[in-house]
Amino acid sequence: MKTLILFSTRDGQTREIASSIASELSELGVYADVVNLNRTESIAWEEYDRVVIGASIRYGHFHPAVDRFVKKHLQHLNALPSAFYAVNLVARKPEKSSPQTNSYTRKFLLNSPWQPDRCAVFAGALRYPRYSWYDRIMIRLIMKMTGGETDARKEVVYTDWSRVSEFAREIAQLTSKSVSKQA
Ligand SMILES: Cc1cc2nc3c(=O)[nH]c(=O)nc-3n(C[C@H](O)[C@H](O)[C@H](O)COP(=O)(O)O)c2cc1C
Repeated sequence: MKTLILFSTRDGQTREIASSIASELSELGVYADVVNLNRTESIAWEEYDRVVIGASIRYGHFHPAVDRFVKKHLQHLNALPSAFYAVNLVARKPEKSSPQTNSYTRKFLLNSPWQPDRCAVFAGALRYPRYSWYDRIMIRLIMKMTGGETDARKEVVYTDWSRVSEFAREIAQLTSKSVSKQA
């Protein structure tokens, strides 16, 4: 059996985090498939014994495909040990980096019919040179208002990879706990 790690990304950071979780899990002897949630038609759920979903924020919202996916696969998501992680730039501030204090994540958990067993919030990446003209102006304005990086030539990765590793270890533990519960 394997872990299914689904991600919803716009610029790639959520996929990088998914890959990092997968490599950490593999070091722990837990094998994982990393799959783009937006590009999956059908899932062989019988191959998986736990599931993780990661999604990023753009202009205040997760991609609508995340909600659609959760609704469509709710039975499987609720039947398996599961985890969710959110990626956004507000989370670069420690006081906004927990599921309770990160407003996007809190709102998601409040409204979601799926209740993951573990949840984390990670700061994402700021990559000005890769954004469209409009997005660059908008993000720079937000950064200015919130005391962040405003040099539009820069790419800054705020993700704390040690917290990602810690989350992967929690996922591995969650599995062994539920296995021992069933035994
Ligand atoms: C156009 C745009 C809008 C964004 N809007 C928000 C936002 O409303 N709140 C926030 O905290 N981060 C926001 N971000 C930051 C992203 O969540 C962050 O860059 C994250 O790493 C993106 O992950 P992804 O590459 O997996 O899509 C925005 C980024 C872009 C490019």
